[in-house]
Amino acid sequence: MDGPDLEFLLDRMTVEEKVGQLNLVSADVAWTGANTINPTLHFETPQEHLADIRAGHVTGVFNLAGAERVRTVQTIAVEESRLGIPLLFGADVIHGLRTVFPVPLAEAAGFDPAFAAEVASAVAAEASGEGMHWTFAPGADLCRDARWGRAMESCGEDVLLASCMAAARVSGFQGEDLSDPQRLMATIKHFAGYGAAEAGMDYNTAELSATTLADHYLPPYRAGIDAGAGAVMTSFNDLDGVPATASPALLTGLLRDRWGFRGFTVSDYNSDAETIAHGFASDRREAAMRCFNAGLDMCMASGLYLEHLPALLADGLITMERLDTSVMRVLQAKRALGLFDNPYRGLDAVAPASRALAREAARRCPVLLKNAGDVLPLAPGAAVALIGPFAREQSHLNGAWAIFGDNNQSVDLATGLTNALGQGAVAVVQGCEIDRELHGGIDAAVAAAREADVVILALGEGQHMSGESRSRADIGVPEAQLALARAVHTVAKRVVILLRTGRPLVIGELADLADAVLVTWFLGTETGHAVADLLTGKAAPRGRLPMSFPRHVGQVPIFYARKATGRPAAPGSPIFTARYIDVENGPLFPFGFGLSYGRVSYGPTEADAKHMPWDGVLTVRCALTEADGRDVDELAQLYVHDVAARRIRPIRELKAFRWYKVPANGSVTVIFEIKRDDLAFDDMQGGRLAEPGAFDIWIAPDAQSGRPVRFILDPPES
Ligand code: BGC
Repeated sequence: MDGPDLEFLLDRMTVEEKVGQLNLVSADVAWTGANTINPTLHFETPQEHLADIRAGHVTGVFNLAGAERVRTVQTIAVEESRLGIPLLFGADVIHGLRTVFPVPLAEAAGFDPAFAAEVASAVAAEASGEGMHWTFAPGADLCRDARWGRAMESCGEDVLLASCMAAARVSGFQGEDLSDPQRLMATIKHFAGYGAAEAGMDYNTAELSATTLADHYLPPYRAGIDAGAGAVMTSFNDLDGVPATASPALLTGLLRDRWGFRGFTVSDYNSDAETIAHGFASDRREAAMRCFNAGLDMCMASGLYLEHLPALLADGLITMERLDTSVMRVLQAKRALGLFDNPYRGLDAVAPASRALAREAARRCPVLLKNAGDVLPLAPGAAVALIGPFAREQSHLNGAWAIFGDNNQSVDLATGLTNALGQGAVAVVQGCEIDRELHGGIDAAVAAAREADVVILALGEGQHMSGESRSRADIGVPEAQLALARAVHTVAKRVVILLRTGRPLVIGELADLADAVLVTWFLGTETGHAVADLLTGKAAPRGRLPMSFPRHVGQVPIFYARKATGRPAAPGSPIFTARYIDVENGPLFPFGFGLSYGRVSYGPTEADAKHMPWDGVLTVRCALTEADGRDVDELAQLYVHDVAARRIRPIRELKAFRWYKVPANGSVTVIFEIKRDDLAFDDMQGGRLAEPGAFDIWIAPDAQSGRPVRFILDPPES
């Protein structure tokens, strides 16, 4: 790798310049005058920030987009600071920069890691052209609680799916070589356990047993790190009474010593200073010391290290060796990105992500939950009324964390559907606001519904209802929208609900009154076109739920990979079993579920043997048959259950998934091979443990259906 001799550079740095390499500043306040995504901490003017940059006190700036602005600021760092060390420009490029792709939870519903990598690669190219080097993505937080606002930013409840997506997105952002000016360095976040915020309330403590952490929450982070992510961001929560940002066990013991991570760690926004509010550090100086000694390399936004590391070093409370280690990690990242050779990398190459790709991405993730009487795709010539607060609007298409997207570029539902069906073919009525009635709204909606063959109701969450700090205790559709749906239902011939959301919602009543329900998430720039493609049958829905949809908020957290308990309940079980007395146990729609146009049935799962040798392979298969005369893309899912284990295993765990093309009125045979490692779990000593004995296995269309076949893993031959 080219670039300077970093040891030589380090030798020439003053303590302040070293600490400066660990100080990341936010552009929100200084450059844009606005602060939309994080609380305001400082009130430095741009001039003050630039003075810090000249002094060598800043390692990089985040969320400053725009080639010209980046060039100006970088020039000051390179030409006017003593050592000319280039700045690192980071940003929350979570699901697109200007061209906005579906939110990560939606992308996960696509169950297609290779496609997610393609999207990440296009996003990286677009963001590099605007001066970005480093994205604060992918999130790898497992999420099993739909109340958590950041469900939309997660890949849902499943360990395998979240792990595959994290790894794929890292590869897509970073490519083979970080010095390629069209690539971004990736960040695995939020380490660790952030998605387990108690009661689904953002920033809350995460109460996780060591084994739940190891078996379920850590693997997605690990997968992203193994895929080569250059950075890891710590999380806001504490684990076992220690804030993650100041946890030696997480940042050094696990990340460095066990996992061998070689990049740098960065705090979340002010999470280092927030160790004081947690009740862990008594003041900013102690916070700086404890985070630093725990293994945190870089502060985001707090300025904590700049303030306190020099004095802590002078007082012997931190060591120069430890300081040099952190600084070197950051310099190495800058060198890997090619910044020493070309601090203006990427700035000349404008590479907007293709809208065709955005449209394709947005078509792949909606999940069809119901389609009674094959109301979808729409019959040609049907009179359509598009009704609801999301029918014609451009402010709620992109979802949270699309901070650089321009809403005006996004295609809304009315536009997409009109483009597809023709001018005048769609009556569009708002009906109500997102969470308020609209004067005369219901009357207008009912009048339009009477005239229509099919009513399409565009309901759900507004952009402000999902995302960071947008936890909800009630995860239903707002009452004003329910009132609209009820009124329309009384007169409509057929009702299709398009459900915009960043999380699973409780939709029992809506699902009952609708003929069809299509979960459309937040799809981004090409929303209207993509949804129209699906409604008209130009494309078929193929998304599958990455999180269970509960019947009632009281079931949350609800997820398929749960433990059986000593008193397992089946539908209709008596009391004194593990069940509610007022709600059925299972979800309304399970993980992995999603319909398409066409009908695929699964034959029995068959194993090629009753025994699997310790070092061998077991082949399992199942026939898929289409009976409705349409070609279907079907996601075959392989689940396993360890019948008796030294540590109880979940009732099912997804071990593999694969897409099959099932031809109209034809069949295909699904084949999976299982190895011992697919049956193993964390032994809590740094290894993996598989135990001989009985296992159940399913090939199924979701986490709830199918009948298992049993086989025995034989012990090793002695
Ligand atoms: C979020 C991070 C984000 C950071 C910078 C924090 O509030 O938790 O995910 O990267 O802000 O905007």
